[in-house]
Amino acid sequence: MNRATHNLENDHVFILKLTEVMEKMAERTEFDPVYVEEVIDLIRNFADGLHHAKEENLLFPLLVDKGFSNENGPVGVMLMEHVQGRQYVKEMTDGVRILKQGDFSAISKIREAMMGYAVLLQNHIGKENNVLFRMAENLMSAPEEERLFQDFRRIDNGNDTGVSSANYIDRVNKLAEIYF
Ligand SMILES: [Fe+2]
Ligand SMILES: [Fe+2]
Repeated sequence: MNRATHNLENDHVFILKLTEVMEKMAERTEFDPVYVEEVIDLIRNFADGLHHAKEENLLFPLLVDKGFSNENGPVGVMLMEHVQGRQYVKEMTDGVRILKQGDFSAISKIREAMMGYAVLLQNHIGKENNVLFRMAENLMSAPEEERLFQDFRRIDNGNDTGVSSANYIDRVNKLAEIYF
C-alpha cells in the first residue's frame, strides 16, 4: 500500500536538512543575504507552501473529520506551530530588508530567527513523525490513504504550482553542499 504518511516523512528529510543548513549558516561569521533569501524562498515554497499545504489542506481536515479539534490537541498544536514558523520567516525577511539598507545590526536578528525556526521545525517534525502520523495511519481507511497519497503525488509533480518537489529538493541539496 502507498502510505501517504511516508510521502510526508520524505519531505521531512529535506526540511530537516534545510534546518541544519540554517544552523550552520547562522553560526558562520561571514553572512551572505543571498543565501538567506534562498532559505526563505525554500521555506515559503517548499516547507510551508508545498509540504504544509499537504498537511493543512488535506491530512489535517481528514483528521478533523474523524473527530480531532482544529484548535487544540495534536492537530491544533501542529497548526499553531506552522503559524509560529511563519512568524520566524517574517523576522528573517524583515531582517534581510533592513540589512540591505546597510544596517548590520539586523544580522543578529536574522541569526536568532533562523535558529528559532530550525529548532521549532526539528521538534515539530519529531512530533509529526512519532505521534501524529502514527495516529493518522490507524485512523485512515486504505482507500482514504490511497486518495491522499495520489493527491500528494499530484502536488509533488507540480501540477498545482508548476514547480515539482524534486526541484526544491535539488535546491536544498545544493545549499547543503555549500554549508556542510
Ligand atoms: Fe507540520
Ligand atoms: Fe510536516
